[in-house]
Amino acid sequence: MARQAVPALNKVSLEIPAGTMTALVGPSGSGKSTLLHLIAGLESVDSGELDVLGRSVHTCGQRELAALRLREIGFVYQDFSLLTDLTLAENARLPLEGAGMARKQAHEAACAAMARVGLAGLEERFPAEVSGGQQQRASIARAIVGERKLVLADEPTGSLDSRTGAEIMDILGGLRNDGVTVVLSTHNTANLAYADQIAELRDGALVSVSARTGSGVSG
Ligand SMILES: Nc1ncnc2c1ncn2[C@@H]1O[C@H](COP(=O)(O)OP(=O)(O)OP(=O)(O)O)[C@@H](O)[C@H]1O
Ligand SMILES: [Mg+2]
Repeated sequence: MARQAVPALNKVSLEIPAGTMTALVGPSGSGKSTLLHLIAGLESVDSGELDVLGRSVHTCGQRELAALRLREIGFVYQDFSLLTDLTLAENARLPLEGAGMARKQAHEAACAAMARVGLAGLEERFPAEVSGGQQQRASIARAIVGERKLVLADEPTGSLDSRTGAEIMDILGGLRNDGVTVVLSTHNTANLAYADQIAELRDGALVSVSARTGSGVSG
């Protein structure tokens, strides 16, 4: 019997306005991570069109995609994905060093990003020396370092208790309020209160998009 390719994503048409937070929801295997990877250029588009930050990713070459990813997009993972042998500041400056920035300048940008996520003073700590919430803050610092404007977060609160998860969502919401575009996947309904739009996937298809009003405003 011939094996048939089953697309991981199909019929997904979604516009994500700059400076907003979009939450991707849906059951396990529905395609949330796949969609984030496509936006990040970590997986390539087989068919259809995808524009990210004004560029047509579906026609981009690998080099251009890699440059886009390195310079303009930050990715936050559920398990933080910090390098354990590097300090938090060294982790946070990695994307800039990878893009060719001088170490001193990259370090200054990393410290600024760390201050922005409430980690001032912990620059020289190693991941194992801080809490899970602090590790996730460091991974967000790495995602925004150098003033990047698009943060993709795959289950950013999935490994955290609810209180720490809410702190991480407060940070992501604050970044959004500062003009950063945030796209996250989540199984946690408490996180949806932060989102401007909620996109629901099922079996690789987009089944609904709902806009929330008044999000991000807390009294
Ligand atoms: N590298 C891959 N090669 C082939 N199929 C894959 C690959 N990665 C994911 N898939 C398939 O694509 C579909 C979507 O998977 P994806 O990981 O995007 O789901 P998800 O919504 O993120 O799930 P979860 O909530 O468990 O993280 C699934 O059917 C999965 O088996
Ligand atoms: Mg996933």
